Amino acid sequence: MATHAGGLTAAPPRTVRVERLVRGFGDRTVLHGLDLEIADGEFVALLGRSGSGKSTLLRALAGLDRDVAGSGTVLVPENSSVVFQDARLLPWQRVLPNVVLGLRGPDADARGRAALAEVGLAGRERAWPNELSGGEQQRVALARSLVTEPELLLADEPFGALDALTRIRMHGLLRELCARHRPAVLLVTHDVDEAIALADRVLLIDGGRIAVDQSIELPAPRSHRQPAFLGYRESLLEALGVQEAGR
Ligand SMILES: Nc1ncnc2c1ncn2[C@@H]1O[C@H](COP(=O)(O)OP(=O)(O)OP(=O)(O)O)[C@@H](O)[C@H]1O
Ligand SMILES: [Mg+2]
Repeated sequence: MATHAGGLTAAPPRTVRVERLVRGFGDRTVLHGLDLEIADGEFVALLGRSGSGKSTLLRALAGLDRDVAGSGTVLVPENSSVVFQDARLLPWQRVLPNVVLGLRGPDADARGRAALAEVGLAGRERAWPNELSGGEQQRVALARSLVTEPELLLADEPFGALDALTRIRMHGLLRELCARHRPAVLLVTHDVDEAIALADRVLLIDGGRIAVDQSIELPAPRSHRQPAFLGYRESLLEALGVQEAGR
């Protein structure tokens, strides 16, 4: 953190700044003047009930909502990537061209190969997307999103369609990749445990605003058995209005 003359300490640089964001569809307002900041390299998870506006917010950050009515300030880096629940690979392109889509320069293929190796798919460059499992396709999507070295990674339930075991493996992979590349991350998820396992900070959206902003301080490796993990889970589930079974 930089210290300026006069003893003032500068706040950490912000990758994302959202102020008074309003978004609505027809006469229904979904985001009611939402404020949000994400620091450089910070991993933020976003929870909220179905229909609370998580994807609406993510699409606003991704610039995918130009036809949606609204107002407010959205400042994001130009170099941002988005990952969705489905891998959205081009079925008529092999894996490597899917990864380097839009990448320019003589080293594009080499960078694509390196990204595929990072997600454990070295040797699958010439496979067609429909020859890959769902988890493998999602790893290709991760490689594609990180090959551009984005400052901001936006992910909308990227593991939502995967089985529980694959999802846990993907958590480990995402953590590793983020530690290496250090993008700021906004991960939308329904899964409270996923949020606590991965994020520096967990937000909960309710009533069109950020209703809970919880820093997660847990020693690594994070485990569901840590008492503090259970404490975070309990308070976030309560904020979501979910009663845990057996209580
Ligand atoms: N293109 C659209 N046209 C009309 N209404 C929309 C549109 N997109 C979203 N909405 C409405 O906005 C509200 C918020 O939707 P959004 O997709 O952001 O919710 P979400 O929190 O991502 O929910 P989920 O967890 O189910 O994915 C919902 O009531 C939804 O019906
Ligand atoms: Mg959604």
